[in-house]
Amino acid sequence: MLNVALPKGRLGEKVYKMLERAGYSCKDVLSDSRKLIFTDEQNGVSYFWVKPSDVAIYVERGVADIGVAGKDILAESGADIYELLDLGIGKCKMAVASVNGYREDISRPLRVATKFPRIAAAYYGGKNREIDIIKLYGSIELAPILGLSDVIVDIVETGTTLKENNMSVIADIFPISARLIANKACYKFKGEEIDAAVERLKKELPV
Ligand code: PRP
Repeated sequence: MLNVALPKGRLGEKVYKMLERAGYSCKDVLSDSRKLIFTDEQNGVSYFWVKPSDVAIYVERGVADIGVAGKDILAESGADIYELLDLGIGKCKMAVASVNGYREDISRPLRVATKFPRIAAAYYGGKNREIDIIKLYGSIELAPILGLSDVIVDIVETGTTLKENNMSVIADIFPISARLIANKACYKFKGEEIDAAVERLKKELPV
């Protein structure tokens, strides 16, 4: 039996459809219910719907053998897991952005608003730039507009949010996509089963 943590939401639904095509279908997973766990004995698979930012924890702790999480969540969580496959969906990027015309004052620490403090610290640490991290939980773009921060470190997908708020990207940090991840110990015990799933999924990747 493979235990799979799926990220709740649109990305998770796409991922489930890939898994279904790969032979891991499970009745009612996409039904409009509040149920969280679905098992299909015949296909040897059990799915849990997990908050996207929690997938890495479920997998790291071995409650799920495998799971799917965005590169942003993996980088921020620092979870000790195996990254097995880039699923090529959920593509966007991590970037630094600010209001149009922003000029950095290098004489003082840079105020960075973000949902991703670890990623921001690593990025600016690599540049030896002192920063003051302002941890927020959403609508990050508001921070530089209202003067709470100088810049943001955030996800940019279509760029619409930035554009509609007279902001733009200053620097790209890294590209993001959904990754298939595995628990390290589970991979030892169920290596064959997990490798088979990876091979089947490879055939379902977008071209
Ligand atoms: C994310 C991100 C940006 C936006 C980028 O926010 O934090 O705000 O999407 O997408 P775009 O480039 O296509 O406009 P999300 O929608 O997850 O909501 P949040 O602001 O509450 O975090």
